[in-house]
Amino acid sequence: MKNIKILSTRSPAQTRELARRFAGLLKGGEIVFLRGPIGAGKTVFVKGVAEALGLKSSPTSASFSLMKRYGNRRHTLFHIDLFRLSEGEVFNLGFEEMLEDEKAVILAEWPDPLAAMLPADRLEMEFILCEGDLRRIELRAGGPVSEALAEELCKKTNAR
Ligand SMILES: Nc1ncnc2c1ncn2[C@@H]1O[C@H](COP(=O)(O)OP(=O)(O)OP(=O)(O)O)[C@@H](O)[C@H]1O
Ligand SMILES: [Mg+2]
Repeated sequence: MKNIKILSTRSPAQTRELARRFAGLLKGGEIVFLRGPIGAGKTVFVKGVAEALGLKSSPTSASFSLMKRYGNRRHTLFHIDLFRLSEGEVFNLGFEEMLEDEKAVILAEWPDPLAAMLPADRLEMEFILCEGDLRRIELRAGGPVSEALAEELCKKTNAR
């Protein structure tokens, strides 16, 4: 989608706050691709979301380091990190289970190998390193669900 929204945080604590606001908007079924270089804050964001939802991680069958499942009765969240993997390497790793759960929230770092497997309506969040602890976060939506999510997140953030 052409429409880019921009947020920024000035500390890990602010990124966790942003994650908390984001978590409050989740209904289930959202997909987020987290982009940006090593140390940009993608994992800080994901942990913030899990914490805000009161979720603890439990190892998943196939590949603990590539995919962590967080769940309770109300939410299921998958945290994926495919750093340095290629598309050919993500078959038979257990992502099928994740895709069967329509209400699962998927947060993926280094997501390119998964892109072809997932619907286009996903939110891209690109973390850009600026000076010091400043992070610029660009939001791009791939369809109506992620567009609404991005809009709500910005509204909520700007209303503080
Ligand atoms: N504004 C900020 N938001 C998030 N993290 C920040 C911020 N400022 C500084 N940091 C620091 O940057 C680091 C971010 O680490 P994190 O593991 O989240 O990066 P990542 O994007 O997941 O990297 P990787 O690609 O290696 O997984 C942490 O050490 C965190 O304390
Ligand atoms: Mg990370």
